[in-house]
Amino acid sequence: MLKRLLRRRMVNTCVVGNWQRSNMTSADPTDANIARSFQDIPGPSGIYQWPFIGLRLQLKPFTEFKITRLDQLMMDYKRRYGPICKARMGKRWMVFLFEPSVIEKAFRTEGRYPQRPSIMILEHFYKGQACPSISILQGKEWFEMRRPPQMTLKKPKNLSKFIPQLSEVADDFVEKFRNNHIMEDLPLPCLDFTTEGAGTLCFGLRLGCLNKTSGNDATTILKHVRGVFGAIGESMYSLPWFLLYETSSYRQFVEHIAFLRRMADGHLQRAKHELNNRTTGDEKANLMLDMINTPGMTSEMISNNLVDLFIAGLDSTAMAITFLFYQLARNPDKQEKLFEEIRDHIPPSGPISEDALLHLPYLKACLKESFRLVFPVSIGSSRVLQKDIQLLGYHIPKGCVIAGGNSVIGRDKEYFNDPEMFLPERWLRSGPTHIHAFAQLPFGFGPRDCIGKRFAEIEVYICVSKIVRNYKIILPKDVTEVPYIYQMFAIPEKPFSLHLLPRSTG
Ligand code: HEM
Repeated sequence: MLKRLLRRRMVNTCVVGNWQRSNMTSADPTDANIARSFQDIPGPSGIYQWPFIGLRLQLKPFTEFKITRLDQLMMDYKRRYGPICKARMGKRWMVFLFEPSVIEKAFRTEGRYPQRPSIMILEHFYKGQACPSISILQGKEWFEMRRPPQMTLKKPKNLSKFIPQLSEVADDFVEKFRNNHIMEDLPLPCLDFTTEGAGTLCFGLRLGCLNKTSGNDATTILKHVRGVFGAIGESMYSLPWFLLYETSSYRQFVEHIAFLRRMADGHLQRAKHELNNRTTGDEKANLMLDMINTPGMTSEMISNNLVDLFIAGLDSTAMAITFLFYQLARNPDKQEKLFEEIRDHIPPSGPISEDALLHLPYLKACLKESFRLVFPVSIGSSRVLQKDIQLLGYHIPKGCVIAGGNSVIGRDKEYFNDPEMFLPERWLRSGPTHIHAFAQLPFGFGPRDCIGKRFAEIEVYICVSKIVRNYKIILPKDVTEVPYIYQMFAIPEKPFSLHLLPRSTG
């Protein structure tokens, strides 16, 4: 009863009700005097505007929407309020944008030091520390911390040096399934792969995650990596008690991070010692060496950066690979088309050439399409506005958070025909329709976009191409759909398995 009442009230009190495009002004006045005020932006009203409680009342058990699927609540917002709407998220006001051209306008106004609202548990952890991580720093400090790894991670020439090591990791991944022909408990095997990949990126080392035995270093590393993600995921959906006292899950989170920090410190000391004594001259390319060689980087900055970059790329990339495997298994005709493309450029084993990665347009289209169907983050990138702006005729003040509603746009018929279908062809240059560049931003946009975007893409291309070159990925009969939820990134709601049928490698 209460649920029905609340639901009715939420619908009745919305400002524009079922939105119609003709109600919105298409003119976008730049004069603050003629712009409509922030108050006028449609969105849930009344009790739903209360800090913290407002959002909770729009979720289960009061409505059908789950906190782990905020994208569905956003879809409902788009349906009811149109291309722009405002809502309370926790204590903040957020303005959601569901039109690519409006997202473009908003993101193009960001300055040199864009601000992203940070993850509370990380912010709390780093509070008071002299040199926190890239993800939570703001302003000039953020810029200085991001610049050194960015030199390596954003330049294709510098990144190409990682291709041979990643090819080796992918070969081991392929071999892992040689005898039993099944990927069990996905996404865990993909997390093993990305942790191993991150080891080569950050430290130029093989950690052993693909042939771990109980009690070895890799098992311990993976335990702490999973612990960090578990704690961050949990903190995103529960009340932040850790701000008041040290909860046991927060204590565990600190222990997991401390382990990874010790690991980074250990590798850093070793590398510095070796460099000083010149005991080796054949170090593999890696971020740590690049940062050691950057003037002005202290050991603390390097260590914190390494932990940040090591962690940030694991879950995100593992999920991208997992969902792409799933889409290919679900769409065998597309998988065959991909195999045809891969067969000409990718060897079943051994190093992949840099040139080969330039000739895989269908694989790139498959990844984009997989991201569209399961958008990696529940809403889209967000920014704390550093100056007043106007969007769709509304005045939006400095300090407000705007978010691109790309998870909603990806499923919107207005922008994508047959949005429920896996159609990589739509992303090809020869594709049927033009797709707005801001319709999908899985890695964000601008100076504060994902620093690891190119590395992640290379990792996915190498891993998926090697698997598809060696096996046909098959959906087991009992797996029809893989529902997903959002923690920090989209993850399968439950672990699932995929079968692998060996292909002739001739
Ligand atoms: C498929 C894999 C990945 C996805 C989908 C992804 C997605 C994202 C997104 C959406 C953001 C926020 C961007 C914005 O606000 O505009 C971000 C930030 C970030 N990502 Fe990734 N990411 C991935 C892989 C990686 C990898 C491999 C690394 C490290 C090598 C990495 C490191 C980071 C860092 C450090 C930030 C914060 C950047 C800053 O605040 O300056 N990510 N990522």
